[in-house]
Order: sequence, then C-alpha cells, then structure tokens
Amino acid sequence: MDKFLINGPCKIKGKVLISGSKNASLPILAATLLFDEPVVIKNLPIVRDINTMINLLKSLGSKIILSKDKKTVKIINQKKMKTFASYSLVKTMRGSILVLGALVAKYNKSKTSLPGGCLIGARPINYHLAALKKLGMKYEIKDGYILARSKGKLKGTIIKFPKISVGATENSIIAACISKGKTILKNCAIEPEIKDLTNFLNSAGAKIKWLGRTCKIEGVDKLNQTVYSVMPDRIEAGTFCVASTLSNGNLEIRNINSKIIQTELSLLKKAGAKIKIEKDKIFIKGPHKIKSIKNIKTKEWPGVATDMQSQFMVLMCKAKGKSVITENIFENRFLHVGELQRLGANIQIKKNKAIIEGNTKFVAAELMSSDLRASVALVLAAIVSNGKSEINRIYHLDRGYEKIENKLKKIGVKIKRLRG
Ligand code: EPZ
Repeated sequence: MDKFLINGPCKIKGKVLISGSKNASLPILAATLLFDEPVVIKNLPIVRDINTMINLLKSLGSKIILSKDKKTVKIINQKKMKTFASYSLVKTMRGSILVLGALVAKYNKSKTSLPGGCLIGARPINYHLAALKKLGMKYEIKDGYILARSKGKLKGTIIKFPKISVGATENSIIAACISKGKTILKNCAIEPEIKDLTNFLNSAGAKIKWLGRTCKIEGVDKLNQTVYSVMPDRIEAGTFCVASTLSNGNLEIRNINSKIIQTELSLLKKAGAKIKIEKDKIFIKGPHKIKSIKNIKTKEWPGVATDMQSQFMVLMCKAKGKSVITENIFENRFLHVGELQRLGANIQIKKNKAIIEGNTKFVAAELMSSDLRASVALVLAAIVSNGKSEINRIYHLDRGYEKIENKLKKIGVKIKRLRG
C-alpha cells in the first residue's frame, strides 16, 4: 500500500488548478444508464471512485470510450443492458447505489448490492428505497442485495424526504425524469452537485425545475444525446484554501466559482485569511496568526460542508485559543482526531462535538489514513508539522483527490509517494 512522506513545515505558494467534482461526476455517470443515445461527459476527475463507477457501467453493458487524458468519456449503452450491480464493485464505492434508480426506471428491474456502511457511519439507504417505492418500485432485500422491479414504467408522485439526503435526492431525480407523469420532491438536498446533475439531465431534454428545496420533474419518454462538462470540485478547492490559510501561504486557486464555497470562505476570512475573488479564481493569503472560530457546525448546503470538517479541525488546532467543531451530518466523522492527537493536538470529543485547544505545535509522526477527508486532514497537518511525517494507506486519498502529490509539490510542499 502506497504511503506519503511529507517533510514539514512547508510554506505554500503558487497556483493550483481544481479538477472536476467527484460528487457531481458520480450521479451524472449513474444517470447515463437512462440514455439510449451516446452521451459525452467531460472534466471528470482522475480518481479511483470515478474508475469504479466506470467499471460498474461497463459491467452493466455500457460501451465506454475514454479520452487520452482520461477526463472525457463517451458512453454508448446497448439495447439490452444487464441490471446486476455486484457487491464486489458496490462495496468499494457506496456511490454505486445511485445506479438503482436509473436501472429500475429504465429496465424495470435491478439486483443491486446493499452498499453497507463505512467508517464515518452506518450510511443507511432507507430514504432512497422509500422514495423509489413511492414511484412504484417493488423490492425485497435478500443475501445483501436489493431485488427490485416495477410493473411497467415508474409513476410520478409527490415525495417528501423525512430528512435531507444528497444520495436519496439524486436517486429519486434520476428515476423520476423518465417516469410517467409529474413528480414533486420536497425537502431535497440542494448541494451544488445535485444542481449539476439536474443541469446535465435538462441538457438532454429532461424537464426538471427547482423552487428552494422542492424539485419538480415532468417525466419524458427519452433523453437525447448531450455533451456535458462536470462542475469543479468545491471540496478540493476548499481543502487548498485551508492549506494556504494554515501555512501563512499565498495561493491562486484556478477554475473554481467562489460562490459554491462561499460559506467556507467566510469562515477562513474569520480565521484571518485575506481573500480576493476574480471570475473563476480565488487568491488566498494565510495570516501570521490564525484566529480561532468559537463554533463551527457542519450542516447541509448552504451550511458548512461536512466534507470540510476535518480540514477546519486542523486549522483550528493552529489557531490562537479554543474552538468547537460540531459534526451534525455523520455519526462517526472524527476518525482524524486520534491521529491529530498523535501529532500533538489537544482535542476533546464530547458526543458530536470536538473541543480544540489551539496553539498546537505539530510534531511529525507516522500516521494512518482512515477515510477520504480524514486522510487529507493528516496531509494538511503534516505540511505544518516539524519533521518528516509518514501517512499510510493513502489509497483513501486516491479515491477523491486527483494527483494530489503533484499539485502539492507544485506549490512548495516537500512530499513524496512511496509505492507499497
Ligand atoms: C453524499 O453522501 C456525499 N457522497 C458525501 O461525500 C457527503 O459527505 C454527503 O453527501 C453529505 O454532504 C457523494 O456524493 C458520493 P446523505 P450521501 O445521504 O449521499 C443519513 C465524500 O467524502 N441517511 O446526504 O451518502 C446518512 O447516514 C463523501 O466525498 C439516512 O439515514 O449523504 C447521513 O447521516 C463522504 N438514510 C445523512 O443522512 C438514507 O437513506 C446525510 O447523508 C440516506 C442518508
């Protein structure tokens, strides 16, 4: 297993180009199962999860033509596609569950593995199943699989989600756009990645409209061919913004619309960062003294992204004074805390709150990654630690950050990947 060696502390300076969004690409790729015509998706990030989704589509019968730079795919579905999404693929990437809505809507049947939990939480899919059932999907759970079918086309209806869920909203939109009649989804998640999914579907002739957290979908018979470029990754951009703030750095972040990380940028300004916005660029300079932010609470969009929680925790370790981070989305998303404590952080956990004593002097150590965003927090901490840190199991990072060591090297980080 590969590991990173990072020789800190490093001063971050230079330019970084943001890749396409993993969490917009996954639902968009799943939705290509709805198409009879060829469909082209551009600006895909070169990360493991996208590879896994492409392999899943291939296993269902899609013909995939990948561009030389691996950022564009042309997808051609066969007349008769398979509808079996195997455990071996779904277990490596939970986002695979997003093919369920597409397969049942298009082929009226599917055998899809339950995704199972992951380290950050149980990750149930009850809201996905309940919504698809309301659209007419019948299912039973057997041997870890969802055996789903529908009698003819799914039928539009009114669905109110009991809790805001990104995946359940996406699965339902995908299924509803070729269902019979009108669907109204209420209490939807409205993350930018979901808007990217609906922009993609509308570019192919779907009829999807938004009004706040309500999504209105008029079912169409078929989708036309389209070429669509995925939005930039706001979590990657936010991570680099934290890196610059953390290390008294000076960074130009390119190919990002600052509106989609407005909330996080306001927090960074509170911590003392100097931020200048240009059309699709963010200039961010870190302060000499990082100010603590008393209360950071993760929330659904437009609140502070849970996928940015661990990065902000590293920043607050270096801030002057005490701060509290509350994780409101996942039940076990403090896996990075133990590792940060090994670097010298003083953090106390009380239920879903982390109380952070600032002014931490991070000292390099050997570290273990646990999940995608916890791993990037360890990279950030290693960048501002004294000495050589070793970060193990960086396959977690490869799931969602494109060529991260190359991008970090280019902005002054002394990092090396040791192939394991
Ligand atoms: C998406 O996960 C993202 N993944 C996550 O990013 C992100 O952290 C999360 O949304 C929240 O923004 C992708 O887009 C591929 P949810 P998802 O359904 O859809 C509970 C990353 O690092 N819930 O909004 O799984 C659930 O357990 C990943 O890129 C149910 O109880 O998130 C959680 O506590 C990590 N039943 C909360 O809702 C359900 O049926 C929010 O989950 C569905 C969800």
